[in-house]
Amino acid sequence: MSSENTTKEYSLEFDPYNYTETAVTVDDKTVIYRSYESIVYVKYPVDTTYQIMNIYVPVEYYEKDQSINGYNAKTAPIFFPNPIGGYMPGTPMSPSVDFSGDPNGALLALSKGYVIAAPGARGRTTQADNGLYTGKAPACIVDLKSAVRYLRYNKNLIPGDTEKIVSCGTSAGGAASALLGATGNNKDYEPYLKAIGAAAERDDIFAAQCYCPITNLDNADTAYEWLFNGVNGTMTDDQITISDQLKSLFPAYVNSLGLNKGTELALDADGNGPFKNYVKSFLIASAQKALDDGTDLSDLTWITITDGTVTDIDFNEYAEYASRYKAAPAFDGLDLSHAENGLFGSATINAKHFTQFGMENSTVDSFLADEHIVKMLNPMNYIGAQNTDTAQYWRIRHGAVDRDTSIAIPVILATKLDNEGFNVDLAIPWGQGHGGDYDLDELFTWLDNICGTN
Ligand code: DHB
Repeated sequence: MSSENTTKEYSLEFDPYNYTETAVTVDDKTVIYRSYESIVYVKYPVDTTYQIMNIYVPVEYYEKDQSINGYNAKTAPIFFPNPIGGYMPGTPMSPSVDFSGDPNGALLALSKGYVIAAPGARGRTTQADNGLYTGKAPACIVDLKSAVRYLRYNKNLIPGDTEKIVSCGTSAGGAASALLGATGNNKDYEPYLKAIGAAAERDDIFAAQCYCPITNLDNADTAYEWLFNGVNGTMTDDQITISDQLKSLFPAYVNSLGLNKGTELALDADGNGPFKNYVKSFLIASAQKALDDGTDLSDLTWITITDGTVTDIDFNEYAEYASRYKAAPAFDGLDLSHAENGLFGSATINAKHFTQFGMENSTVDSFLADEHIVKMLNPMNYIGAQNTDTAQYWRIRHGAVDRDTSIAIPVILATKLDNEGFNVDLAIPWGQGHGGDYDLDELFTWLDNICGTN
Protein backbone atom coordinates (compact mmCIF):
# COMPACT_ATOMS: atom_id res chain seq x y z
CA MET A 1 0.00 0.00 0.00
CA SER A 2 1.33 3.43 -0.87
CA SER A 3 1.98 6.05 1.77
CA GLU A 4 2.31 8.62 -0.97
CA ASN A 5 -1.34 9.66 -1.21
CA THR A 6 -1.77 13.37 -1.03
CA THR A 7 -4.33 16.14 -1.10
CA LYS A 8 -1.81 18.90 -1.85
CA GLU A 9 -2.00 20.81 -5.15
CA TYR A 10 1.20 20.53 -7.19
CA SER A 11 2.51 23.12 -9.62
CA LEU A 12 2.68 22.17 -13.29
CA GLU A 13 5.58 24.61 -13.80
CA PHE A 14 8.88 22.87 -14.55
CA ASP A 15 11.82 24.13 -12.47
CA PRO A 16 14.84 24.33 -14.80
CA TYR A 17 17.28 24.90 -11.92
CA ASN A 18 16.57 21.76 -9.90
CA TYR A 19 18.96 19.24 -11.44
CA THR A 20 22.08 17.17 -10.95
CA GLU A 21 24.71 16.48 -13.58
CA THR A 22 26.08 13.03 -14.47
CA ALA A 23 28.84 11.83 -16.81
CA VAL A 24 28.80 8.26 -18.22
CA THR A 25 30.98 6.65 -20.86
CA VAL A 26 29.09 4.91 -23.70
CA ASP A 27 31.14 3.29 -26.48
CA ASP A 28 34.25 5.32 -25.56
CA LYS A 29 32.22 8.53 -25.69
CA THR A 30 31.47 10.54 -22.55
CA VAL A 31 27.81 11.46 -22.25
CA ILE A 32 27.08 14.29 -19.83
CA TYR A 33 23.48 15.00 -18.96
CA ARG A 34 21.27 16.92 -16.55
CA SER A 35 18.85 14.86 -14.47
CA TYR A 36 15.53 16.31 -13.35
CA GLU A 37 13.94 13.54 -11.32
CA SER A 38 10.64 12.68 -9.62
CA ILE A 39 8.67 15.57 -11.08
CA VAL A 40 4.97 15.28 -10.28
CA TYR A 41 3.24 15.76 -13.65
CA VAL A 42 -0.34 16.51 -12.53
CA LYS A 43 -1.85 19.04 -10.14
CA TYR A 44 -3.85 16.55 -8.11
CA PRO A 45 -1.85 13.33 -8.05
CA VAL A 46 -3.46 10.25 -6.56
CA ASP A 47 -0.08 8.68 -5.86
CA THR A 48 3.24 10.54 -6.01
CA THR A 49 5.23 7.30 -6.10
CA TYR A 50 4.05 6.74 -9.67
CA GLN A 51 2.62 9.96 -11.14
CA ILE A 52 6.09 11.36 -11.57
CA MET A 53 8.54 11.73 -14.44
CA ASN A 54 12.32 11.81 -14.83
CA ILE A 55 13.73 14.13 -17.48
CA TYR A 56 17.30 13.84 -18.77
CA VAL A 57 18.88 16.35 -21.13
CA PRO A 58 22.33 16.29 -22.79
CA VAL A 59 24.36 19.22 -21.38
CA GLU A 60 25.16 20.37 -24.90
CA TYR A 61 21.61 21.69 -25.17
CA TYR A 62 22.40 24.34 -22.54
CA GLU A 63 25.35 25.64 -24.53
CA LYS A 64 24.94 27.97 -27.49
CA ASP A 65 24.71 26.42 -30.97
CA GLN A 66 25.64 22.90 -29.85
CA SER A 67 24.23 19.90 -31.63
CA ILE A 68 24.42 16.11 -31.26
CA ASN A 69 23.71 13.71 -34.13
CA GLY A 70 22.17 16.58 -36.09
CA TYR A 71 19.78 17.56 -33.29
CA ASN A 72 19.83 20.72 -31.19
CA ALA A 73 17.95 22.04 -28.15
CA LYS A 74 14.94 22.92 -30.32
CA THR A 75 14.84 19.91 -32.65
CA ALA A 76 15.88 17.00 -30.41
CA PRO A 77 13.22 14.24 -30.34
CA ILE A 78 11.90 13.33 -26.91
CA PHE A 79 12.29 9.61 -26.09
CA PHE A 80 9.42 8.56 -23.81
CA PRO A 81 10.08 5.06 -22.38
CA ASN A 82 7.37 3.73 -20.09
CA PRO A 83 8.19 1.27 -17.29
CA ILE A 84 4.91 -0.67 -17.35
CA GLY A 85 5.09 -4.46 -17.12
CA GLY A 86 2.32 -6.91 -16.24
CA TYR A 87 -0.07 -3.94 -16.01
CA MET A 88 1.63 -3.25 -12.69
CA PRO A 89 2.54 0.23 -11.45
CA GLY A 90 5.94 1.44 -12.59
CA THR A 91 8.42 4.07 -11.44
CA PRO A 92 10.29 6.18 -14.01
CA MET A 93 13.27 4.69 -15.83
CA SER A 94 16.71 6.23 -15.72
CA PRO A 95 19.83 5.93 -17.90
CA SER A 96 21.99 2.93 -16.97
CA VAL A 97 24.45 0.36 -18.23
CA ASP A 98 23.95 -3.35 -17.75
CA PHE A 99 26.42 -5.84 -16.31
CA SER A 100 28.19 -6.15 -19.66
CA GLY A 101 28.51 -2.40 -20.03
CA ASP A 102 25.76 -1.96 -22.62
CA PRO A 103 23.61 1.17 -22.31
CA ASN A 104 19.87 0.87 -21.78
CA GLY A 105 17.49 2.63 -24.17
CA ALA A 106 17.48 5.89 -22.20
CA LEU A 107 21.28 6.15 -22.05
CA LEU A 108 21.71 5.19 -25.69
CA ALA A 109 19.09 7.79 -26.63
CA LEU A 110 20.97 10.49 -24.66
CA SER A 111 24.19 9.57 -26.45
CA LYS A 112 22.36 10.07 -29.75
CA GLY A 113 21.08 13.51 -28.78
CA TYR A 114 17.57 12.65 -27.62
CA VAL A 115 15.95 14.27 -24.61
CA ILE A 116 14.54 11.60 -22.26
CA ALA A 117 11.17 11.96 -20.58
CA ALA A 118 10.59 8.82 -18.53
CA PRO A 119 7.14 8.68 -16.91
CA GLY A 120 5.97 6.50 -14.07
CA ALA A 121 2.37 5.27 -14.06
CA ARG A 122 -0.14 3.70 -11.72
CA GLY A 123 -1.06 0.06 -12.25
CA ARG A 124 -3.49 -2.65 -11.29
CA THR A 125 -2.18 -3.14 -7.73
CA THR A 126 -1.88 0.53 -6.75
CA GLN A 127 -3.90 1.24 -3.61
CA ALA A 128 -4.62 4.27 -1.46
CA ASP A 129 -3.99 4.27 2.29
CA ASN A 130 -7.69 3.49 2.77
CA GLY A 131 -7.35 0.34 0.67
CA LEU A 132 -9.20 1.58 -2.41
CA TYR A 133 -7.60 0.65 -5.73
CA THR A 134 -6.37 3.75 -7.52
CA GLY A 135 -4.58 2.32 -10.54
CA LYS A 136 -7.20 0.23 -12.30
CA ALA A 137 -7.94 0.88 -16.00
CA PRO A 138 -7.74 3.44 -17.47
CA ALA A 139 -5.19 4.86 -14.97
CA CYS A 140 -2.08 3.67 -16.84
CA ILE A 141 -2.96 5.47 -20.07
CA VAL A 142 -4.35 8.52 -18.28
CA ASP A 143 -1.00 8.88 -16.50
CA LEU A 144 1.04 8.58 -19.70
CA LYS A 145 -1.16 11.17 -21.39
CA SER A 146 -0.76 13.50 -18.39
CA ALA A 147 3.02 13.24 -18.67
CA VAL A 148 2.87 14.11 -22.40
CA ARG A 149 0.68 17.10 -21.57
CA TYR A 150 3.18 18.22 -18.90
CA LEU A 151 5.93 18.22 -21.53
CA ARG A 152 3.86 20.41 -23.87
CA TYR A 153 2.88 22.73 -21.00
CA ASN A 154 6.59 23.28 -20.29
CA LYS A 155 7.89 23.17 -23.84
CA ASN A 156 9.68 26.51 -23.49
CA LEU A 157 11.50 25.34 -20.35
CA ILE A 158 12.56 21.82 -21.37
CA PRO A 159 14.83 21.26 -24.41
CA GLY A 160 13.45 19.01 -27.14
CA ASP A 161 10.67 19.09 -29.72
CA THR A 162 7.28 18.18 -28.26
CA GLU A 163 6.11 17.46 -31.83
CA LYS A 164 8.64 14.60 -31.89
CA ILE A 165 7.66 12.61 -28.80
CA VAL A 166 8.47 8.93 -29.37
CA SER A 167 6.97 6.42 -26.98
CA CYS A 168 8.56 3.06 -26.17
CA GLY A 169 7.39 0.13 -24.07
CA THR A 170 7.46 -3.65 -23.74
CA SER A 171 4.62 -6.11 -23.21
CA ALA A 172 1.94 -4.36 -21.09
CA GLY A 173 4.21 -1.34 -21.64
CA GLY A 174 4.11 -2.06 -25.38
CA ALA A 175 0.34 -2.06 -25.13
CA ALA A 176 0.44 1.26 -23.24
CA SER A 177 2.75 2.64 -25.93
CA ALA A 178 0.25 1.53 -28.61
CA LEU A 179 -2.60 3.10 -26.69
CA LEU A 180 -0.72 6.38 -26.28
CA GLY A 181 0.06 6.34 -30.01
CA ALA A 182 -3.48 5.48 -31.08
CA THR A 183 -5.62 7.72 -28.89
CA GLY A 184 -4.08 11.22 -29.13
CA ASN A 185 -6.48 13.94 -27.94
CA ASN A 186 -9.52 11.67 -27.92
CA LYS A 187 -12.18 13.06 -25.56
CA ASP A 188 -12.95 9.71 -23.90
CA TYR A 189 -10.02 10.26 -21.54
CA GLU A 190 -10.79 13.89 -20.76
CA PRO A 191 -12.79 13.42 -17.53
CA TYR A 192 -10.01 11.25 -16.07
CA LEU A 193 -7.33 13.76 -17.09
CA LYS A 194 -9.33 16.63 -15.59
CA ALA A 195 -9.85 14.78 -12.32
CA ILE A 196 -6.11 14.52 -11.67
CA GLY A 197 -5.33 18.03 -12.89
CA ALA A 198 -3.44 17.17 -16.07
CA ALA A 199 -2.30 20.20 -18.08
CA ALA A 200 -4.82 21.49 -20.63
CA GLU A 201 -2.60 20.57 -23.57
CA ARG A 202 -2.63 18.11 -26.47
CA ASP A 203 -1.52 14.52 -25.72
CA ASP A 204 -0.87 13.17 -29.22
CA ILE A 205 2.61 11.81 -29.99
CA PHE A 206 4.77 11.45 -33.10
CA ALA A 207 5.76 7.78 -33.00
CA ALA A 208 5.26 4.58 -31.02
CA GLN A 209 7.66 1.68 -30.55
CA CYS A 210 5.71 -1.31 -29.26
CA TYR A 211 7.61 -4.44 -28.21
CA CYS A 212 5.35 -7.50 -27.91
CA PRO A 213 2.28 -5.46 -27.01
CA ILE A 214 -0.16 -7.38 -24.83
CA THR A 215 -2.99 -5.42 -26.37
CA ASN A 216 -6.46 -5.79 -27.88
CA LEU A 217 -7.25 -7.66 -24.66
CA ASP A 218 -10.94 -8.16 -25.35
CA ASN A 219 -10.04 -10.20 -28.46
CA ALA A 220 -6.80 -11.74 -27.22
CA ASP A 221 -8.40 -14.98 -25.94
CA THR A 222 -9.92 -15.88 -29.31
CA ALA A 223 -6.70 -14.88 -31.13
CA TYR A 224 -4.69 -17.10 -28.78
CA GLU A 225 -6.86 -20.15 -29.44
CA TRP A 226 -6.88 -19.50 -33.21
CA LEU A 227 -3.11 -20.00 -32.98
CA PHE A 228 -2.72 -22.57 -30.21
CA ASN A 229 -5.88 -24.69 -30.42
CA GLY A 230 -4.64 -28.29 -30.66
CA VAL A 231 -1.45 -27.48 -28.75
CA ASN A 232 -2.87 -28.70 -25.51
CA GLY A 233 0.05 -28.97 -23.13
CA THR A 234 -1.33 -29.72 -19.70
CA MET A 235 -4.83 -28.42 -20.38
CA THR A 236 -7.82 -30.17 -18.87
CA ASP A 237 -10.72 -31.45 -20.98
CA ASP A 238 -12.75 -28.42 -19.93
CA GLN A 239 -9.98 -26.08 -21.02
CA ILE A 240 -9.73 -27.88 -24.38
CA THR A 241 -13.48 -27.37 -24.86
CA ILE A 242 -13.04 -23.68 -23.98
CA SER A 243 -10.19 -23.50 -26.50
CA ASP A 244 -12.45 -24.92 -29.26
CA GLN A 245 -15.19 -22.42 -28.42
CA LEU A 246 -12.84 -19.44 -28.36
CA LYS A 247 -11.15 -20.44 -31.59
CA SER A 248 -14.52 -20.58 -33.33
CA LEU A 249 -15.21 -16.94 -32.36
CA PHE A 250 -12.06 -15.50 -33.91
CA PRO A 251 -12.99 -15.48 -37.64
CA ALA A 252 -16.05 -13.29 -37.01
CA TYR A 253 -13.85 -10.75 -35.20
CA VAL A 254 -11.20 -10.65 -37.93
CA ASN A 255 -13.88 -10.42 -40.62
CA SER A 256 -15.57 -7.54 -38.79
CA LEU A 257 -12.37 -5.48 -39.14
CA GLY A 258 -12.37 -5.53 -42.95
CA LEU A 259 -8.55 -5.54 -43.01
CA ASN A 260 -7.19 -5.34 -46.51
CA LYS A 261 -3.84 -5.93 -48.18
CA GLY A 262 -4.85 -5.90 -51.83
CA THR A 263 -7.36 -8.55 -50.89
CA GLU A 264 -9.66 -8.66 -47.88
CA LEU A 265 -7.90 -10.46 -45.06
CA ALA A 266 -10.81 -12.67 -44.12
CA LEU A 267 -11.02 -16.08 -42.44
CA ASP A 268 -13.42 -18.95 -43.03
CA ALA A 269 -15.25 -20.66 -40.18
CA ASP A 270 -12.28 -22.99 -39.60
CA GLY A 271 -9.89 -20.06 -39.26
CA ASN A 272 -8.27 -20.51 -42.68
CA GLY A 273 -7.98 -17.97 -45.46
CA PRO A 274 -6.15 -14.79 -46.53
CA PHE A 275 -5.61 -13.45 -43.00
CA LYS A 276 -3.81 -16.65 -42.02
CA ASN A 277 -1.66 -16.50 -45.15
CA TYR A 278 -0.83 -12.88 -44.34
CA VAL A 279 0.29 -13.83 -40.81
CA LYS A 280 2.36 -16.62 -42.34
CA SER A 281 4.05 -14.12 -44.66
CA PHE A 282 5.59 -12.38 -41.61
CA LEU A 283 6.91 -15.71 -40.30
CA ILE A 284 8.31 -16.56 -43.72
CA ALA A 285 10.04 -13.16 -43.90
CA SER A 286 11.42 -13.73 -40.40
CA ALA A 287 12.77 -17.19 -41.24
CA GLN A 288 14.25 -15.83 -44.46
CA LYS A 289 16.10 -13.10 -42.58
CA ALA A 290 17.42 -15.66 -40.08
CA LEU A 291 18.55 -17.88 -42.94
CA ASP A 292 20.25 -14.95 -44.69
CA ASP A 293 21.98 -14.07 -41.41
CA GLY A 294 23.44 -17.59 -41.27
CA THR A 295 21.01 -19.35 -38.89
CA ASP A 296 20.75 -23.09 -39.53
CA LEU A 297 17.04 -23.89 -39.97
CA SER A 298 17.54 -27.36 -41.46
CA ASP A 299 16.20 -29.17 -38.34
CA LEU A 300 12.89 -27.36 -38.67
CA THR A 301 11.22 -29.64 -41.16
CA TRP A 302 8.04 -27.54 -41.16
CA ILE A 303 9.88 -24.75 -42.95
CA THR A 304 10.13 -25.30 -46.73
CA ILE A 305 13.39 -23.94 -48.10
CA THR A 306 14.15 -24.14 -51.82
CA ASP A 307 17.53 -22.91 -53.07
CA GLY A 308 18.02 -20.63 -50.09
CA THR A 309 14.50 -19.21 -50.24
CA VAL A 310 11.89 -19.86 -47.55
CA THR A 311 8.76 -20.64 -49.56
CA ASP A 312 6.36 -21.96 -46.92
CA ILE A 313 5.85 -22.84 -43.28
CA ASP A 314 3.37 -25.25 -41.73
CA PHE A 315 1.33 -23.03 -39.46
CA ASN A 316 0.16 -25.77 -37.08
CA GLU A 317 3.70 -27.00 -36.63
CA TYR A 318 4.86 -23.45 -36.04
CA ALA A 319 2.31 -23.25 -33.19
CA GLU A 320 3.65 -26.55 -31.75
CA TYR A 321 7.19 -25.19 -32.01
CA ALA A 322 6.37 -21.85 -30.37
CA SER A 323 4.29 -23.87 -27.84
CA ARG A 324 1.47 -22.81 -25.60
CA TYR A 325 2.29 -20.80 -22.48
CA LYS A 326 -1.19 -20.10 -21.18
CA ALA A 327 -4.21 -22.37 -20.75
CA ALA A 328 -7.53 -21.27 -22.29
CA PRO A 329 -8.73 -18.62 -21.74
CA ALA A 330 -5.35 -16.94 -21.73
CA PHE A 331 -6.46 -13.46 -20.64
CA ASP A 332 -9.96 -13.24 -19.21
CA GLY A 333 -9.45 -15.93 -16.57
CA LEU A 334 -12.66 -17.73 -15.67
CA ASP A 335 -11.68 -17.53 -12.00
CA LEU A 336 -10.55 -13.87 -12.37
CA SER A 337 -6.96 -14.84 -11.59
CA HIS A 338 -5.17 -13.29 -14.58
CA ALA A 339 -3.31 -9.97 -14.62
CA GLU A 340 -5.86 -8.59 -17.08
CA ASN A 341 -8.75 -9.34 -14.72
CA GLY A 342 -6.93 -7.21 -12.18
CA LEU A 343 -6.39 -4.44 -14.71
CA PHE A 344 -10.15 -4.18 -15.25
CA GLY A 345 -11.05 -4.08 -11.56
CA SER A 346 -12.43 -0.96 -9.92
CA ALA A 347 -11.78 1.08 -6.78
CA THR A 348 -13.50 -1.52 -4.61
CA ILE A 349 -13.39 -4.72 -6.69
CA ASN A 350 -9.96 -6.16 -7.40
CA ALA A 351 -10.75 -8.11 -10.56
CA LYS A 352 -13.48 -8.35 -13.20
CA HIS A 353 -14.25 -10.06 -16.47
CA PHE A 354 -13.85 -7.98 -19.60
CA THR A 355 -15.34 -10.28 -22.23
CA GLN A 356 -18.85 -11.63 -22.61
CA PHE A 357 -17.35 -15.12 -22.93
CA GLY A 358 -15.47 -14.78 -19.63
CA MET A 359 -18.58 -13.52 -17.88
CA GLU A 360 -20.83 -16.26 -19.25
CA ASN A 361 -18.36 -19.00 -18.35
CA SER A 362 -17.21 -17.56 -15.05
CA THR A 363 -16.49 -20.04 -12.28
CA VAL A 364 -16.67 -17.43 -9.50
CA ASP A 365 -18.96 -14.61 -8.35
CA SER A 366 -18.03 -11.86 -10.73
CA PHE A 367 -18.75 -8.59 -12.51
CA LEU A 368 -18.24 -7.52 -16.09
CA ALA A 369 -16.08 -4.40 -16.47
CA ASP A 370 -17.72 -1.24 -17.79
CA GLU A 371 -17.69 -1.51 -21.58
CA HIS A 372 -16.52 2.10 -21.95
CA ILE A 373 -13.41 1.31 -19.88
CA VAL A 374 -12.71 -1.84 -21.91
CA LYS A 375 -13.05 0.33 -25.03
CA MET A 376 -10.56 2.89 -23.65
CA LEU A 377 -7.88 0.19 -23.18
CA ASN A 378 -7.99 -1.04 -26.77
CA PRO A 379 -6.08 1.02 -29.38
CA MET A 380 -8.06 -0.71 -32.18
CA ASN A 381 -11.05 1.48 -31.27
CA TYR A 382 -9.15 4.72 -31.90
CA ILE A 383 -6.84 4.22 -34.88
CA GLY A 384 -8.01 6.70 -37.48
CA ALA A 385 -11.16 7.52 -35.47
CA GLN A 386 -12.76 10.95 -35.69
CA ASN A 387 -11.37 13.67 -33.43
CA THR A 388 -8.36 11.51 -32.68
CA ASP A 389 -4.74 12.23 -33.59
CA THR A 390 -3.09 8.84 -34.02
CA ALA A 391 0.74 8.83 -34.21
CA GLN A 392 2.09 8.85 -37.77
CA TYR A 393 4.92 6.36 -37.21
CA TRP A 394 4.86 2.90 -35.67
CA ARG A 395 7.43 0.21 -35.08
CA ILE A 396 6.02 -3.06 -33.75
CA ARG A 397 8.07 -6.12 -32.81
CA HIS A 398 6.79 -9.50 -31.61
CA GLY A 399 9.26 -12.37 -31.23
CA ALA A 400 8.64 -15.46 -33.38
CA VAL A 401 8.61 -17.63 -30.23
CA ASP A 402 6.72 -15.17 -28.00
CA ARG A 403 3.75 -17.09 -26.54
CA ASP A 404 2.46 -14.40 -24.22
CA THR A 405 -0.08 -13.35 -26.83
CA SER A 406 -0.98 -14.58 -30.32
CA ILE A 407 1.04 -13.34 -33.29
CA ALA A 408 -2.35 -12.40 -34.76
CA ILE A 409 -2.55 -9.49 -32.29
CA PRO A 410 0.43 -7.44 -33.58
CA VAL A 411 -0.50 -8.31 -37.18
CA ILE A 412 -4.05 -7.02 -36.66
CA LEU A 413 -2.75 -3.84 -34.98
CA ALA A 414 -0.22 -3.15 -37.73
CA THR A 415 -2.66 -3.87 -40.55
CA LYS A 416 -5.33 -1.60 -39.08
CA LEU A 417 -2.73 1.19 -38.80
CA ASP A 418 -1.56 0.57 -42.36
CA ASN A 419 -5.10 0.52 -43.71
CA GLU A 420 -5.87 3.83 -41.97
CA GLY A 421 -2.86 5.44 -43.66
CA PHE A 422 -0.25 5.33 -40.88
CA ASN A 423 3.36 4.32 -41.41
CA VAL A 424 4.07 0.90 -39.82
CA ASP A 425 7.16 -1.24 -39.56
CA LEU A 426 6.19 -4.69 -38.23
CA ALA A 427 8.63 -7.57 -37.89
CA ILE A 428 8.63 -10.91 -36.05
CA PRO A 429 12.29 -11.43 -35.05
CA TRP A 430 13.36 -15.07 -35.38
CA GLY A 431 14.17 -16.92 -32.16
CA GLN A 432 13.00 -14.01 -30.06
CA GLY A 433 10.78 -14.64 -27.04
CA HIS A 434 8.80 -12.23 -24.90
CA GLY A 435 10.91 -9.12 -24.34
CA GLY A 436 12.02 -5.76 -25.64
CA ASP A 437 14.94 -3.41 -26.25
CA TYR A 438 16.95 -6.21 -27.96
CA ASP A 439 17.50 -4.24 -31.16
CA LEU A 440 18.19 -0.72 -29.89
CA ASP A 441 20.61 0.13 -32.71
CA GLU A 442 17.92 -0.68 -35.28
CA LEU A 443 15.33 1.21 -33.25
CA PHE A 444 17.43 4.38 -33.21
CA THR A 445 18.26 4.08 -36.92
CA TRP A 446 14.51 3.96 -37.56
CA LEU A 447 13.92 6.90 -35.20
CA ASP A 448 16.67 8.99 -36.78
CA ASN A 449 15.13 8.27 -40.18
CA ILE A 450 11.65 9.42 -39.20
CA CYS A 451 12.89 12.32 -37.04
CA GLY A 452 14.98 13.66 -39.86
CA THR A 453 18.72 13.27 -39.33
CA ASN A 454 19.38 10.36 -41.71
C1 DHB B 1 2.72 -9.12 -19.50
C2 DHB B 1 2.82 -10.46 -19.89
C3 DHB B 1 1.67 -11.19 -20.04
O1 DHB B 1 1.72 -12.51 -20.41
C4 DHB B 1 0.42 -10.62 -19.79
O2 DHB B 1 -0.69 -11.38 -19.91
C5 DHB B 1 0.33 -9.28 -19.42
C6 DHB B 1 1.48 -8.53 -19.30
C7 DHB B 1 3.97 -8.31 -19.35
O3 DHB B 1 5.07 -8.91 -19.41
O4 DHB B 1 3.87 -7.08 -19.21
